[in-house]
Amino acid sequence: MKLLKTLATFASVVLVAAHSPVPIDSRNLSEIYAAAQKECGVLHVVYGGDEHNQADAISNAFLAQFPNLRVNFTVDLSKYLDGKINKALFQNKLYADVAIIQTLQDFDDWKERGLLLNYKPPSFDKLWTSLTDVDGAYIPVYGGKYLLHSSGALDSSQILRLTYYRELAHFGPFVFNSSVIPAEDIPKSYADILDSKWKGKIVLTYPNDDDAVLYLFTLIIQQYGWQWLDRLLEQDVQWVRGTASPAEVMLLNTNKTISFTTFPPRAGWGYVPPVSDRYMSWAQSSSIFKDTKLPETAKLVQAFLISEAGQSVYLQEGLPSVRKDLVSGNETIWDLSNTDYVIFHQFMENRETVEAWRFAFEDKIGTAQGLSPLIDDLFVV
Ligand SMILES: *[C@@H]1O[C@H](CO)[C@@H](O)[C@H](O)[C@H]1NC(C)=O
Ligand SMILES: *[C@@H]1O[C@H](CO)[C@@H](O)[C@H](O)[C@H]1NC(C)=O
Ligand SMILES: *[C@@H]1O[C@H](CO)[C@@H](O)[C@H](O)[C@H]1NC(C)=O
Ligand SMILES: *[C@@H]1O[C@H](CO)[C@@H](O)[C@H](O)[C@H]1NC(C)=O
Ligand SMILES: *[C@@H]1O[C@H](CO)[C@@H](O)[C@H](O)[C@H]1NC(C)=O
Repeated sequence: MKLLKTLATFASVVLVAAHSPVPIDSRNLSEIYAAAQKECGVLHVVYGGDEHNQADAISNAFLAQFPNLRVNFTVDLSKYLDGKINKALFQNKLYADVAIIQTLQDFDDWKERGLLLNYKPPSFDKLWTSLTDVDGAYIPVYGGKYLLHSSGALDSSQILRLTYYRELAHFGPFVFNSSVIPAEDIPKSYADILDSKWKGKIVLTYPNDDDAVLYLFTLIIQQYGWQWLDRLLEQDVQWVRGTASPAEVMLLNTNKTISFTTFPPRAGWGYVPPVSDRYMSWAQSSSIFKDTKLPETAKLVQAFLISEAGQSVYLQEGLPSVRKDLVSGNETIWDLSNTDYVIFHQFMENRETVEAWRFAFEDKIGTAQGLSPLIDDLFVV
């Protein structure tokens, strides 16, 4: 029933899109700015990140170019922002006008529920198509990445330096308290996690309860087969709902020491990708909530983010651009060797395959138990 409903919704979205394609805004930024200045009020942009000053560069660049507008960029971790946005949506309220966050699965959900404004800013056609919503419900802004590149094992001093991370648009790197796990014990692959030394110590998000984690698990099964999952289940894994929950469990219960479906909860926690196994990533993306009172100002933000001026802010920080015509150094979004920013979204669009994988995991692991992570009171970070 749920599958049929999803497919029906998907089909109607496709049909609507086919009948009324959203045109690319033919105005230039000055013209959109002129329209935005007729609006009155403060535009609230939420910006996924882990340091309050992380939006300063983009926000300063925006306000320098458009000084007559009032736009408030508020930084918080995406994993909290999406919770706050969803809680407000429950009450038919808007927590923000524009959301620039990393939890791509939220955009798909919000789009399906008709909550986003379909808008294609100027330069929309220069974006990598595979990162971009076909109707402009959300656009990519930059390829998130962890700042420390590792090739092979890290020594403990490197792990200690891994205290600053930008928005991490990945699931799959191992997450652990760096002072608890010695460097030589950090798993190098998903096969390593099957070692008996991890028995009773692993906390993971149910793959059948979170599409990003589901996709990660499909990558692992494609590499190691279903026997990998059978052996993982012998490790007495603690399964939880939500991708913030494993970190919260590890903070509360020091017997639980490792996960690969969560974010480092604070500085001092390690975040180390497998050496060569594939893991999942996606691009930091931006959307406008349809009910915004300041649609032209919101459109200007979208237009600015993917303009040359906006993208240069990210290129200067060493992040890969989402535009085909702009390249930072030698690095494009395609250069990470064991992950990519694109395929997750393609996976998400094929709901039939997603559902088939979900049921296959549910059959082995069981239905997700516990309260929704939005109301489970596990919020200690
Ligand atoms: C934007 O369009 C306006 C109106 O067509 C034009 O006068 C202006 O020069 C354009 N600005 C830029 C930067 O191209
Ligand atoms: C921006 O919004 C945040 C959150 O609503 C608020 O705390 C802050 O005071 C605002 N800043 C400005 C400059 O309006
Ligand atoms: C952690 O493990 C110890 C030793 O096995 C046990 O006594 C303790 O109850 C465990 N703590 C929790 C929170 O499960
Ligand atoms: C790591 O674990 C130790 C021992 O449980 C604890 O004292 C320390 O606060 C933890 N570090 C962080 C950064 O959470
Ligand atoms: C680009 O590649 C060249 C040659 O391999 C290298 O010397 C240079 O440091 C690279 N630049 C960046 C920004 O990675």
